[in-house]
Amino acid sequence: MKVLIVGGGGREHALAWKAARSPLVTEVLCAPGNAGTALEPRVRNVAVGAGDIDGLVRLAKDESVELSIVGPEQPLVEGIADRFEAEGLKCFGPSASAARLEGSKSFAKDFFARHRIPTADYETFDDLQAARRHLAERPLPTVIKADGLAAGKGVIIAHAAEEADRAVRSMLEQHDFGAAGKTVVIEDFLRGEEASFIALVDGTRILPLASSQDHKARDDGDRGPNTGGMGAYSPAPVVTDEVNDRIMNEVVRPAVEGLAADGIHYRGFLYAGLMIDEHGAPGVLEFNCRFGDPETQPILFRLRSDLVAACLESFGGALDAVELDWDPRACVGVVMAAGGYPGAYEKNRPISGLEGLDSETVKVFHAGTRLDAGRVVTSGGRVLCAAALGDSVGKAQARAYAAVEKIAWEGAFYRGDIAYRAVAREQAGAN
Ligand code: AMP
Ligand code: GLY
Repeated sequence: MKVLIVGGGGREHALAWKAARSPLVTEVLCAPGNAGTALEPRVRNVAVGAGDIDGLVRLAKDESVELSIVGPEQPLVEGIADRFEAEGLKCFGPSASAARLEGSKSFAKDFFARHRIPTADYETFDDLQAARRHLAERPLPTVIKADGLAAGKGVIIAHAAEEADRAVRSMLEQHDFGAAGKTVVIEDFLRGEEASFIALVDGTRILPLASSQDHKARDDGDRGPNTGGMGAYSPAPVVTDEVNDRIMNEVVRPAVEGLAADGIHYRGFLYAGLMIDEHGAPGVLEFNCRFGDPETQPILFRLRSDLVAACLESFGGALDAVELDWDPRACVGVVMAAGGYPGAYEKNRPISGLEGLDSETVKVFHAGTRLDAGRVVTSGGRVLCAAALGDSVGKAQARAYAAVEKIAWEGAFYRGDIAYRAVAREQAGAN
């Protein structure tokens, strides 16, 4: 069968690479894809944008695509899954009404409250003076979030009163986030260690994937501005078996039951961004209606089972009976980005050193790249993610950085400490 992957980032390269390895699949189409998917065996890029829902429906019909998997949130929030379903096409991704869990933070927070899913206390505002009065009464640090989609940039953690005031004014007065910032959520700051927990869901059944942790801040030590993610690794040691059970019992199951109780059918990846406190209790930071980027890269590099077969089980099959086989080794993925990211950056820089890097233990997933007369050049802020497996997190980390150090373009940068918490735990455990 033919499978369509919608999107063109690092997550979509990993999805396309994985789908192409399925024995069920003859060809993977990627719309629009990147240089990495263009070079991948059994994968073909098609020049249709991830936001062009009409074009994607036509493509899926013309090519007799039997399964489409949607990478990014925007087309899901805009109803791509509803359109595909109406046309009788199988689309793995939630409907627009279910994708509101990511598309509106106030919707998500009300949902968590209604279904008693642990999350930070919050209030929602669309009036500047009311938001300011509230801030004056709340302890610092405090967290201010634009309600709508803001490409990971709509969350401000304010450590000082002026910073909090600037954040609400930027959203509610200066409209720096456009419609996404017309409403803000102000919530308490949660302490602990973050983890990403992603599951396949079919409305009632749940198939959890391996845990992971991503590094959202630009600079070493988790400092600097927030980005889409500068690296990730799997598994996340903070998610012990006991924490895993708590996440399933306190977050994921109540969420899936809550959606069903609210009359919302959810099929697709459900991503819980969590803070795990010192007692192992999970608190929800956010829900996403899709796979994580860059979490997808290390998670899928560890997955030995057929992802396409698992997604197909979500269409009236037995999703919860699927047993996933994982590589027991750790995987660390290091993102290489264009100088200036997450702000303005240059494009069209030729990339060198990519040849011969991929092996049984290393895979360089592309993100913002394209082919220019056969050469791989940069075309985005996050450019590549070098993923590597290792018997320990430390070994996986060393292998990923060895690959990264061979790759170069003008202005490239990356964090030097991806997976540092897991490596520190490992070293503490060995002593
Ligand atoms: P979000 O897009 O809501 O996941 O927020 C982006 C990042 O901000 C998260 O990955 C956390 O690092 C941080 N964050 C969000 N909400 C909170 C919170 N309530 N307490 C502490 N950190 C938070
Ligand atoms: N890596 C965070 C996200 O995909 O939202």
